[in-house]
Amino acid sequence: MKAIILPAYNKNILRAILSLQVQERELPKPGKDEVLIKTHAAPVNPSDIAFIQGGYNIIKTLPVAPGFEASGIVTDAGENARNLIEKRVSAFVQADRDGTWTEYFIAHKDDLIVLKDIMDLDQASCFTVNPFTAYALMEIALFSKDRAIIQNAAGGQVAAFIRMMAGEQNIEVINIVRKPEVANRLKQEGVTHVLIQNEDTFEKQLYTLAKELNAATAFDAVGGELTGIMFNALGNDSELVIYGGLSNKPGTGINTMDVIFRNKIISGFNLVDWKSELSQPDFEEISEKLQDKFIEGAYRTAISNSVAPDDIVSGLKSYLGNMSDGKILIKP
Ligand SMILES: NC(=O)c1ccc[n+]([C@@H]2O[C@H](COP(=O)([O-])OP(=O)(O)OC[C@H]3O[C@@H](n4cnc5c(N)ncnc54)[C@H](OP(=O)(O)O)[C@@H]3O)[C@@H](O)[C@H]2O)c1
Repeated sequence: MKAIILPAYNKNILRAILSLQVQERELPKPGKDEVLIKTHAAPVNPSDIAFIQGGYNIIKTLPVAPGFEASGIVTDAGENARNLIEKRVSAFVQADRDGTWTEYFIAHKDDLIVLKDIMDLDQASCFTVNPFTAYALMEIALFSKDRAIIQNAAGGQVAAFIRMMAGEQNIEVINIVRKPEVANRLKQEGVTHVLIQNEDTFEKQLYTLAKELNAATAFDAVGGELTGIMFNALGNDSELVIYGGLSNKPGTGINTMDVIFRNKIISGFNLVDWKSELSQPDFEEISEKLQDKFIEGAYRTAISNSVAPDDIVSGLKSYLGNMSDGKILIKP
């Protein structure tokens, strides 16, 4: 089978991308609790970018194929997973072996979501991470249901799901982006509160809006000084949740007195930990609910392009230049 192989981690993202090679690999054999999946599509996520730079919390033995999620069809299975053969699935895989940027990959049977017949396989390739992340973050925001959310990286897909879910609950969202063209696109789509983080009046606008809408929750995917700016804009009894570090900079500028005297909390979120605390029936119930939303067309991931493995370098460059345009899917 064909696989996109990373020979070595490289902090320099351009060098890391240019080092990727398409190679022939032996078809892997599933263990007794595992399945072999023929890949339909695998997305590129910020975690993949951090991974190939050696800056993610998962470090694998090299050389290795990157990719943590995908959709596809089960073509072979170990003795405890034979019932999954021919099922259409979404998979999330982080084990120390080739990931999903391959023609076929191995997944543990517990790391699969079996798809309903009419779930679109492109959408299913980006199903296991972002919709669940937004769902879990919204659980935090729902503690203060009548108060607004502030979020950065608002042109991205987690942020888009937050808007979809907050809209269902009539919760206002203050969206922060870094590029004027992304702000314009969101406004054209009907998003009400959009701020551009580098504008001179940004901080003032954020503080005014946050006060007016009584913001109680902030979702931070960026870090750096934005962490402090967002935190300080929140009212009493509020929480800033850090779930990404896109700027690669430490969060700064937090008003420490607010933490002590205004009951303001800073926390972190990790999907894997959240999922590990759920019972299997609870996870399946959430998964069902989310899948139905995709099937009825209420939720979707924006997909900007699909690329063949041989075009991975141009695909990654285009994703990094325009992340807010949507996901790039790798289709073997
Ligand atoms: N903790 C968890 O369990 C978990 C789970 C899922 C996702 N995440 C994290 O959530 C974040 C968003 O993921 P996603 O899939 O929604 O991303 P995405 O759809 O690929 O979009 C990334 C967004 O981030 C913006 N961005 C990138 N670098 C930035 C920077 N330095 N400063 C400000 N904005 C920046 C991009 O804006 P431009 O268009 O301007 O580039 C784009 O809107 C990532 O950090 C990801 O790792 C965490």
